[in-house]
Order: sequence, then structure tokens, then C-alpha cells
Amino acid sequence: MNHFLDIHKTGAADLRHMIDHAREMKAARLGRPKGALDDEQPLKDHVVALIFEKPSTRTRVSFDVGVRQMGGTTILLSGTEMQLGHGETIADTAQVLSRYVDLIMIRTFDESVLTEMAEFADVPVINGLTDRTHPCQIMADVMTFEEHHGPIRGKKVVWAGDGNNVCASMLHAAGQFGFDMTITGPSQLDPEDEFIGFARKAGSKITIERDPYKAVAGADLVVADTWVSMHDSQSAKERRHNMLRGYQVNDDLMAAAGKDALFMHCLPAHREEEVTSSVMDGPQSVVFDEAENRLHAQKAVMRWCLGV
Ligand code: CP
Ligand code: NVA
Repeated sequence: MNHFLDIHKTGAADLRHMIDHAREMKAARLGRPKGALDDEQPLKDHVVALIFEKPSTRTRVSFDVGVRQMGGTTILLSGTEMQLGHGETIADTAQVLSRYVDLIMIRTFDESVLTEMAEFADVPVINGLTDRTHPCQIMADVMTFEEHHGPIRGKKVVWAGDGNNVCASMLHAAGQFGFDMTITGPSQLDPEDEFIGFARKAGSKITIERDPYKAVAGADLVVADTWVSMHDSQSAKERRHNMLRGYQVNDDLMAAAGKDALFMHCLPAHREEEVTSSVMDGPQSVVFDEAENRLHAQKAVMRWCLGV
């Protein structure tokens, strides 16, 4: 069963195929209305369940539109409206949904919900973000980097700020796609050793550098994300902001990175917090290409999952 649970759990050759396939599908749609069907309709007669236990704009819309373009249909489910949110087990939910739909995408809190869903489902399951990882985002990020700057292998990616779920998937991608990463942030918010260990074991150079200006020297890409993720307690907001303030991506930091460095952010961004508007809307930013590429990358992920 081709579940797409995490970047380190998917073969490197399959990941490469998905990125290249996504680029081909994007090129084939150039200039067409968003709702136009693809020439091929590989998801014709397929139904995809999209389960959200956390808010979403990009993941929700890009999966829905992607399925429609490929000729399929979706069912959008919010966790609280499902019996899952009222005591039905994940295992039972997975088995029931497998009788109705061909593919399940789930955004949830605890990673164990995702893995249990995959264990008991008879259809492929896709990780649409958990507290620990966000692999679909990073597929779009790799695709976007390569569109602008060519192969990502051997390049230097700098992660500035919280070593969170998106950072974890970037570390997995560093190992699988063969690029190096420098993480710059406060020690309390370093990524878990497991994620760093995976990338290092795969041969990537992973550096922790507390000084953000030193960190970005020679960067090909600088990445930021929110300082307070959906799974973080709101009561920790002020403390986190105080710890992270020095890691804001602003014009000075991008100047230290050099004019060829790209800037990415998975969005939603908190302007003037983790990133200034001058960077978000500036010439080095590719954040809206990155958001668009969620659509194309996930279409390739879904086709890989279904083998269509
Ligand atoms: N980047 C991302 O996953 O955005 P949403 O939370 O809007 O889906
Ligand atoms: N780290 C963020 C990513 C949102 C897409 C969060 O988990 O809230």
C-alpha cells in the first residue's frame, strides 16, 4: 500500500518521480482555467476523503481542486463533525471509510492518529500535517526551489526560527534529496534529534548555528514559519515570541544571505513577526509559487498513492 505518511518513509526514487511528474502536470495545464479537467483523468470514478482536525486554507483547497482536475470527487470532513471526534476509534473509522472512498488525506494533531489510520485503512492515507511533520508542504517546496534554481542536491537551505513540524519534514527531505541544512533558532526550539539524525545518516550536512547572520551566509534558500504553530498553546505565545524575535527574516538577514538566495514560507505568515512584508513581497520571495505548487505536488502524490 502506497501511503504517503512522511518523506523519510517514502523511497528517494519515488519522491524524485513525484516532483518531476508534478512539474510535467503543471506545464500541461499552463494558461487553462483552474477548474478545467486535465487531459488525462486518472482519478475518474475515485472519491477522496479530506479530514481536517485543524484549520487549513491551502491544504484544503489544493487537495480539493487537485482531485477535481484529475476527474475525481472529494468529501470534506471536519474532525469535530465526525464520530471520530466523539469517541469512535481511529481503527473503526479507517475501516469504515475504506468501504466508501479510494484515498484518505488527514490533517490531525498527534502523529499516532495518522499512523493508526494507515494501519487499519485498506486504502492509501496521506499526511496533511501533524504536530510533528508536514510532508506535502515540503514536496511543494522542493518543486518550487528547483523551478527557480535547478536541482536542490548539494544546495544549502537555512531554516530560521522554530524547529517545528515543517522544519522536521525539511530535514527528512535534506536526507532524501541530498541537500544541506543550517538551523538557526533558540536551543529550546531545536528540531528533535531524530530528524537531524535521519538527515545526517543519509549524508547531509546539518549545522546548528545560533547566530542567524552567520547561518545564512552562502544560503541558496532561507525558510521561515510561524512562531506559534496550531499545536502550540496560545499561553506560550509571548514566551515564544521573546525567544524567536532575533530570528525574524528581514531585509538585513536576506542581504546577509545574498541576492541569489530564495525566501520561502509555507504560509499562513504573520507579517512583521517571523518575516517582514518587505521580504514576503520582495524579489527573493517565492511564497506564492510555493503555495501554488501544493496543488501540483499533491496531484503527483495522490497518483503515486493510487498507482494511476
Ligand atoms: N501551508 C499550509 O499547510 O497551509 P494551510 O494550513 O492553509 O493548509
Ligand atoms: N507550523 C505550522 C504550519 C502551518 C501550515 C503549524 O503547524 O501550525
